[in-house]
Amino acid sequence: MRTLVVDHPLVAHKLTVLRDETTDSPTFRNLTDELVTLLAYEATRDVRVEPSDIVTPVAPTTGVKLATPRPLVVPILRAGLGMLDGMMRLLPTAEVGFLGMVRNEETLEAATYAERLPEDLSGRQCYVLDPMLATGGTLAAAIRFLTARGADDITAVCLLAAPEGCANLEAGLAGLEVPVTVVVAAMDEKLNDKGYIVPGLGDAGDRLYGVV
Ligand code: URA
Repeated sequence: MRTLVVDHPLVAHKLTVLRDETTDSPTFRNLTDELVTLLAYEATRDVRVEPSDIVTPVAPTTGVKLATPRPLVVPILRAGLGMLDGMMRLLPTAEVGFLGMVRNEETLEAATYAERLPEDLSGRQCYVLDPMLATGGTLAAAIRFLTARGADDITAVCLLAAPEGCANLEAGLAGLEVPVTVVVAAMDEKLNDKGYIVPGLGDAGDRLYGVV
């Protein structure tokens, strides 16, 4: 597993406002959207392309276009939904699949409660959206789900990660042949005893959508 912490002053600025407990939901949603677009630029550095012959108003030339099969973007419900538009802005022709995963707050284990994905993901590059890499359980389960269907390259885009979560994710993916990259805006200090990232930003889903 490769972890890429995006080091950019705009990312750091937006993340600081996002963390602030006085930032309201509409601002939080807008900032998440902008931040994910910046992360998406790094996350798609290895997106597959194929040669494409075109004719400019001046001369024929060869460039590249996104390869087929198209990449698949998979937001993890519910908080990952807040990252979808920011990702699709850079990959408008990608397909979108949905994975609903819930964390048992006592055992901190992840379980799938909803799924809307192609049965066959052979040869697909997948971009998994999950804002908080906390225990790593949800992301590990999501990645295993996608690779079990044939996905052969996975990039997870997260806002924040905890070192414990990264270590657990790596352990949870042991033996997996598929390359996995995690792109994140910041690596925080630790997890607290409730499984929250410290200093973090609180519950990402609640801050995006209000407490439900
Ligand atoms: N999920 C969140 O929304 N926030 C955390 O800090 C950890 C998990």
